[in-house]
Amino acid sequence: MKRVAILISGGGSNMIALARSMEGDHPARPVLVLSNDPAAPGLDRAAALGIPVAAVDHRPFKGDRSAFEAALVKKLDAAAPDVICLAGFMRILTAGFTGRYAGRMLNIHPSLLPKYPGLQTHQRALDAGDAEAGCTVHEVTSVLDDGPILGQARVPILAGDDAESLAARVLVQEHALYPAVLRRYVSGDRTPVLL
Ligand code: GRF
Repeated sequence: MKRVAILISGGGSNMIALARSMEGDHPARPVLVLSNDPAAPGLDRAAALGIPVAAVDHRPFKGDRSAFEAALVKKLDAAAPDVICLAGFMRILTAGFTGRYAGRMLNIHPSLLPKYPGLQTHQRALDAGDAEAGCTVHEVTSVLDDGPILGQARVPILAGDDAESLAARVLVQEHALYPAVLRRYVSGDRTPVLL
């Protein structure tokens, strides 16, 4: 049975989708949900599912990324995960951290990468007059929102859409895409999932 740790910063809806998918004949189980915000609502939601939770508040580290990440590594390595999923984790990670978990850390990003790495992805797609938007699951490298693509889901951009309505439509796809990619990934299958 593969062990999966999930890193969150906020509500954790992707974390919930992942955790709920890892049941029955699924080859993996969640062993830790870890947040950089002790008040992240997703921590209570994970605990309610019986998943061990922990938090390392990034604020006391006052921008010292290495020290913050050393504390993250301590929590993570104690849970001995085979795979790490970043799910709405909003801290930029150093090359030291991404290198330590190279080839076993995933991230979900709310755009059709390589378009729109970074923030405000939905507004940027609207401003560009795109016909479609979506989300991407990729393997994490030292370059932000980059790395081998393991899955993508597309949605139409509709007349009258704003960033909020588009984000809501994309989030529904995120909750389908991330579990589908994870299931393949923990079985050693890197064939991209396309929804
Ligand atoms: C998602 O849209 C994800 O793609 C982005 O942050 C949002 C987090 O949502 N990185 P949640 O915390 O999983 O609900």
